[in-house]
Amino acid sequence: MAHKIIRNWHVAPGSALTDFDKRVLGFQNRGELVPKRELIKTPEQIEGIRRSGVVNTGVLDLIEKEIHAGMSTAEIDRLVYDYTTAHGAIPAPLNYEGFPKSVCTSINEVVCHGIPSEDDILEEGDIINVDVSTILDGYYSDASRMFVIGQTTPEKEKLVRVAKECLEIGAEAAKPWGFVGDIGKAISRHAHKNGFGVVRALCGHGVGLEFHEEPEVDHYNTHRKGMLLVPGMVFTIEPMINMGTWEVFIDEEDGWTVVTEDELPSAQWEHTFLMTEHGLEILTH
Ligand code: MF3
Ligand code: CO
Repeated sequence: MAHKIIRNWHVAPGSALTDFDKRVLGFQNRGELVPKRELIKTPEQIEGIRRSGVVNTGVLDLIEKEIHAGMSTAEIDRLVYDYTTAHGAIPAPLNYEGFPKSVCTSINEVVCHGIPSEDDILEEGDIINVDVSTILDGYYSDASRMFVIGQTTPEKEKLVRVAKECLEIGAEAAKPWGFVGDIGKAISRHAHKNGFGVVRALCGHGVGLEFHEEPEVDHYNTHRKGMLLVPGMVFTIEPMINMGTWEVFIDEEDGWTVVTEDELPSAQWEHTFLMTEHGLEILTH
């Protein structure tokens, strides 16, 4: 079957081709999937996303300082809301497609999108992902970290460490004029080497002018090249790494909470990245 070329890259009729245009068009003419021009951020947009990322990082640093056994995830939610709004920003999750809180808090076997609650009290040995997303002056940033409550088991410690390595290795694999598919290939190799599963149902994503933009960034090996990575693109990498099977389900009662099928623990780390001529730059340090 012949594949139809998706022609995402357009040049206004009559306008001269830049070297950048020629380079992108070269890939497009060879049948590769290239980004739409709107995905290439302007310097002004990049500065806006960077400033949003500074607030987002401030939130995560605050949680890192305050998190402790005996605290409810609702308390984390209040800290996120108060810090974010005090800095003139908006928590992106709040009311996003009906999400009821300002942050996602995902404990142990919860993979992601856990809803903060007065009833969820952190206990010694828990591992928790706190996923923070911020809108500042219309610009979005998105990052998450794992926190270990007190002492946990060596297995959970390893899971948290390997998940972080997966983010770093995935980011290292993302090269300008390379492809999105390089990221998942590198991540899944590292996860599998350590005996862990890689969640397939959720992916990283373009971000900046909206919460979720193109491209989708898969963390497993799809055996597809995926979209061309071009300087100026901004996207997240956020691998969810499971101690057991990659399979997950969504809690039917709340419609949000993603849980591992085998109820073994899961860990996730996330940054928002800018693609540059030299590789990825973290915007949520
Ligand atoms: N922060 C998540 C991400 O990394 C998205 C959460 S959507 C929400 O893409 F509504 F649950 F907040
Ligand atoms: Co994200």
